[in-house]
Amino acid sequence: MRIIRTIDAMRAAVREARRAGRSVGLVPTMGAFHEGHLSLMRRAREQNDLVVVSLFVNPTQFGQNEDLSSYPRDEARDAALAENEGVDVLFAPSAAEVYPDGFATSIDVSGITDVLDGASRGAFHFDGVATVVTKLFGIVRPDVAFFGQKDAQQIMVVRRVVSDLDLDVRIEACPIVRETDGLAMSSRNVYLSPEAREQATALSRALDAASAVRESGERDGERILDAARRVLADAGITPEYLELRDALALNTVTRVDSDALLAVAARVGAARLIDNHILKGDR
Ligand code: PAF
Repeated sequence: MRIIRTIDAMRAAVREARRAGRSVGLVPTMGAFHEGHLSLMRRAREQNDLVVVSLFVNPTQFGQNEDLSSYPRDEARDAALAENEGVDVLFAPSAAEVYPDGFATSIDVSGITDVLDGASRGAFHFDGVATVVTKLFGIVRPDVAFFGQKDAQQIMVVRRVVSDLDLDVRIEACPIVRETDGLAMSSRNVYLSPEAREQATALSRALDAASAVRESGERDGERILDAARRVLADAGITPEYLELRDALALNTVTRVDSDALLAVAARVGAARLIDNHILKGDR
């Protein structure tokens, strides 16, 4: 596996693969790999000749009071894990390489970024994601890029950018990978103390409870949400948000007639965690 740090070298590697008629898959990451990341790499490996994993803790998607400086970083460990998955290139540029002096462009996706994490973290968050992902697509020019469904709103934002800017890349959403007790895997789980780690299971249990209510035939949004609220309250968790939104445009829904995104974000101990389920509608 090659580790590439410059945009020029990354472009050259992709050009060479393209000349040989090879397909290119990209897994964009911020490192601190866990099974969720590795599952994306495996998917990319199955489908592509050249697999590129980007490792870049993107400063522009972190707020002033967020965890940019403490975000877990261990490139040597990440490189070993990626190599073990058969990744061809780890693209690990510096912040100065990605955002050189004079950098002045930002991609602002409106509408779907006004809610959930966009409202909770601030508009800058998805501007930062959209901008860096678009840059990665410009540098790597992948046929397909792989994202985890845990960041459901992020996938919607990326798909919007790809559609609106006519980018020639297919976006593949991959299932959430969970610990055996249901906790969605996240690089931020390392912030959890043993007590908070136990408390954090309430997020997936809350979503399970709400899904079970929906599966029993209930369509009323409030009754479905109430099941999740009870589990969170019992665990002493006050969510930043717990919302039911339509799975296509993120409009609020009061009834689950078509597919809906049930999304939660909460601070548990030192970590801010998110999770979601898609609730199936009838149409
Ligand atoms: O999901 C992430 O790890 C990041 O938001 C991404 C897509 C790599 C952009 O920095």
